[in-house]
Amino acid sequence: MVNPSRKRLVIGNWKMHGDTAFNSELLAGLRAGVADVPHCDVAVCVPFPYLYQVCSLLEGSGLGWGAQDVSEHEKGAYTGEVAANMLTDFQCQWVLVGHSERRTYHGESDATVASKASAALASGLTPVVCVGETLEQQEAGQTAAIIERQLAMVLALGRDAVARMVIAYEPVWAIGTGRTATPEQAQDVHALIRAKLKAIGAPDVRILYGGSVKASNAASLFAMPDIDGALVGGASLVASEFLSIAAA
Ligand code: 13P
Repeated sequence: MVNPSRKRLVIGNWKMHGDTAFNSELLAGLRAGVADVPHCDVAVCVPFPYLYQVCSLLEGSGLGWGAQDVSEHEKGAYTGEVAANMLTDFQCQWVLVGHSERRTYHGESDATVASKASAALASGLTPVVCVGETLEQQEAGQTAAIIERQLAMVLALGRDAVARMVIAYEPVWAIGTGRTATPEQAQDVHALIRAKLKAIGAPDVRILYGGSVKASNAASLFAMPDIDGALVGGASLVASEFLSIAAA
């Protein structure tokens, strides 16, 4: 039985994919099918230049949208950055923070990630805080220690802040590789995250799993007690596949 305060949530992370023609078709497909998945919140996180398009095409559809990153600063001389208020200007509800691709290619630290989550909350966005270990760390038996370290500064923002977030567990070795964590492997880490959330009084924060989620493996992942949904990369670029994940 799904905990009603942990409604299922499936978010598509388009990463650096799309163009206006492609997006138009994908969004039309999502709009047409979203009524069939009322038990699940469904959203897409798109590249910044397409927020206006997404906002125009999804308004009133029941689908949510958001961005893949946000500045930790409110405004100012930060060339190339995008402020949280700019995202809410396009009616974003969601923003990914600390995705492993940001941590790896842009050197985002745990402190930066916590600061971005805080900036997002201050503008009324829901930050989706991503954590996950690399293959090397997993093989060295460091998964729990890495997740705890990545979460520590975010949890230090306090119960009221954390209660308004979503956490996504994305093992780096499962992203875009076709190699999914087994449901049991994912559940072990989700249970650890849940215990941390409970300890600060925010037990109902939704915890998503990400990493090669597809229509064919979604149901077995969602059957786990602490997996509340998915953060989907590649499979979110095909409307039928993405909606099948939400239906699972
Ligand atoms: P894939 O679903 O393509 O493995 O990507 C996962 C991811 O990084 C979502 O944020």
